Amino acid sequence: MAAGAPPVIAIDGPSASGKGTVAQGVAGALGFHYLNSGALYRTVAIAALEAGANLDDESTLSDIALNLRAEFNGDTVTLGNRDVTIVLLTEAVSVAASRIAALPGVRKTLLTRQRAFRQPPGLVADGRDMGSVVFPDAVLKIFLTASLEARAARRYKQLMEKGMDATMAALLQDIRERDQRDTMRATAPLQKSANAVLIDTTYLSAADAVAQVLALYRQAPRAP
Ligand code: DC
Repeated sequence: MAAGAPPVIAIDGPSASGKGTVAQGVAGALGFHYLNSGALYRTVAIAALEAGANLDDESTLSDIALNLRAEFNGDTVTLGNRDVTIVLLTEAVSVAASRIAALPGVRKTLLTRQRAFRQPPGLVADGRDMGSVVFPDAVLKIFLTASLEARAARRYKQLMEKGMDATMAALLQDIRERDQRDTMRATAPLQKSANAVLIDTTYLSAADAVAQVLALYRQAPRAP
């Protein structure tokens, strides 16, 4: 860790593995800031869909990412002056986010914006490449995962609670395809770094996962 830089806890993992819930729980317990990097990619996706951009057009999409007027306050995300918190969760946005996240130009453009979240007293960041690319000097790196079925069931429950439409079959299919795209892409693919601690939440409650991360953080070596 750079001398004096606030500590970062990086929590990476596949879609619907519970990263957001666990990361927010850890951030709340430590009084740290929270970065939901997936929401950033999703917000770029909304802006791109609304602009009618071609989702393979790296240069246009990088411009959209650079000029994104997005704000993140707790769970609420605004784009321009609009609250897009619910739209962020739709499957159309999930698929588009996964596609544009494969473009190196978009990822590079979003680096500075993500690193700006690193403020005292510390940051919990969740995503796919928090420990490998965005915050390689994180004091603690977690790779959070769960079975495909458990993840689809959680996403289903989340969508139902928000009054949104979904079927388990479609969610299983979508998450499987997204896993494939997120792990196979050439730039910053989703993979567990050698120095990340694996936590499987298939049979673990969110509270227990938070407790495990907090215990690991207390034991993590600190820069002198
Ligand atoms: O975590 P999420 O499901 O909200 O992320 C949405 C998409 O964004 C996901 O398919 C992959 C991409 N993503 C990424 O490539 N890198 C990140 N750090 C976070 C998300």
